[in-house]
Amino acid sequence: MKRKIEKIALLTSGGDAPGMNAAIRAVVRAAAYYEKEIYGIYRGYEGLIEGDIERFGPRKVSNIINRGGTILKSARSKEFRTPEGRKKAYENLKKYEIDALVVIGGDGSFRGMKVFSDEYDFPVMGIPATIDNDINGTDYSIGFDTASNTAMEAIDKIRDTASSHDRLFFIEVMGRDAGFLALHSGIAGGAEDILIPEEDRGINELLESLRRSKRSGKTSSIVVVAEGDKTGKNVFELARYVENNLKEYEVRVVIIGHIQRGGSPTTFDRVLASRLGVKAVEALLDGENKKVTGMRKNEIIVYPLEEATTKTKKINQELIRIIDILTV
Ligand code: F6P
Repeated sequence: MKRKIEKIALLTSGGDAPGMNAAIRAVVRAAAYYEKEIYGIYRGYEGLIEGDIERFGPRKVSNIINRGGTILKSARSKEFRTPEGRKKAYENLKKYEIDALVVIGGDGSFRGMKVFSDEYDFPVMGIPATIDNDINGTDYSIGFDTASNTAMEAIDKIRDTASSHDRLFFIEVMGRDAGFLALHSGIAGGAEDILIPEEDRGINELLESLRRSKRSGKTSSIVVVAEGDKTGKNVFELARYVENNLKEYEVRVVIIGHIQRGGSPTTFDRVLASRLGVKAVEALLDGENKKVTGMRKNEIIVYPLEEATTKTKKINQELIRIIDILTV
């Protein structure tokens, strides 16, 4: 039997991502359009546990489509990982007579949502938002496009100084467990090599490719390194290792860091967030539960939460293959 959904609550969780606000706006407005009550929960699962909940209307989300970050604020909640924390969360949802919960966040947030909905048989819907783009089942998550562009613009600027001084730059981009951001920004920024957590390209292979590039007449180079790359060395150790082994290079290190998480979302992220947000509300009203909205081949889809939480999203091997071709 289809559950009646009259009141929906919404939160953002995990690392913020540009476009989260556009998704909040879409969820709030879609709920208003279908004449449902909508509640904003502040600070992710932390706020849910503490009852930091407020009734929202469509005007509450005016002028936020262009803003980075999240007006609902975000947190990585330790307490929600405990049964006691989830019990408090459930009690607060009951107190406000909420019928369904929408979570805008990444894989960690979705795993928490899955445990919670299994435990309390509570209707939930996920909207993928993370600059890492590592949520299985969707081609893109909100924030990835903006972050890739931010990283690419930083790489472009570093290229100017790298070529002026004939230097080798190691540029660390975000991605503790995923290399999508490094791969996209690295290819777009013309990187000589890209080191990511999913693939062990080997440190000797890196040295060899840098030797080759010197021999081929290149005077400067850029290597993009994801935070969690497989070499077992942090970006500074990596740079020192290369400098010690390739005396011909003068090496510098740049960590782009949290700049990648901020800023006004791109057109792509705003449109994606708007489509996913509307779909999340419509899916709940259609009786869908324990699902995630996503995009495959430019179509908006609704797929099982299980698929997003139990499988690891695969790197596109074609992108790996073309790195070497493009740096010949
Ligand atoms: O999940 C998004 C992300 O930006 C990762 O790329 C990064 O490893 C992590 O968050 C950093 O988290 P924090 O901001 O909590 O240090």
